[in-house]
Amino acid sequence: MKSSQDHLIDELQNFMDGDLERFQALGKKIIKDFKRQQRIMEQSDRRQRQEYDQLQEKLLEVKALNLEIEETQKEVVFTMGAIGESRSKETGNHVKRVAGYSKILALASGMDETEAEMLKQASPMHDIGKVTIPDAILNKPGKLDAQEFEKMKEHAVLGYEMLKHSNRALLQMAATVAHEHHEKYDGSGYPRGLKGEAIHIYGRITAIADVFDALGSNRIYKKAWEDERIFALFRSERGKHFDPVLVDLFFNHINEILLVRDAYRDIFNQSNQSGTAL
Ligand SMILES: [Fe+2]
Ligand SMILES: [Fe+2]
Repeated sequence: MKSSQDHLIDELQNFMDGDLERFQALGKKIIKDFKRQQRIMEQSDRRQRQEYDQLQEKLLEVKALNLEIEETQKEVVFTMGAIGESRSKETGNHVKRVAGYSKILALASGMDETEAEMLKQASPMHDIGKVTIPDAILNKPGKLDAQEFEKMKEHAVLGYEMLKHSNRALLQMAATVAHEHHEKYDGSGYPRGLKGEAIHIYGRITAIADVFDALGSNRIYKKAWEDERIFALFRSERGKHFDPVLVDLFFNHINEILLVRDAYRDIFNQSNQSGTAL
């Protein structure tokens, strides 16, 4: 016969055995839930990682595409410039040199990198208006008569008209350059006879860059000038044809300018008769 104490011990034992089973069952369930949770998290981690990787890939594609668009834009701009120049048998390197000189002067005159780079791209289009000038005038050997010169002068306005309708900042800038690259600081230039700072800085810079390069190249009616002769002319035209401050900056940065000239030297010097020079 069990004593009441034994009975109590048995009951306690039964209770604990049952509890242990319940605990074990609960423990198993918790572990199972935890593992399931972990699987779900791993799966969603993997999915998130995949989505992130895909996003990165897309971003790279967009970046590459943007670069491609930018490069294409630069090529188109140079090609457009070269078309204008080729009508008057100018070499493709002329526009590249003008672009390089323009950027040096733009930075020297205080423009930031973005604006200077834009001018580098816009300045090659200065003579785009020449596409509409008849060959007989563009390629006439010898000097133009007064009437022919008047016709030639139209290329500044024609270039402006071609470019001014665009909303693109670059083409707006190119329109200004085409319009004002033959203006002279003392007001004796064309087409509007603008004077001093009324001529946009883009036009004043391109004028120096274009004339410097034109004088240093062979033309049908003249040999390329020696540097010293060009420099003498620049000094004497300081404040007349050219912005005096820009002439000073030109001389201060002459080493950089000559590096650009060397980098884009013409392999052969084509003869040319054009109105790009003085
Ligand atoms: Fe021109
Ligand atoms: Fe030119």
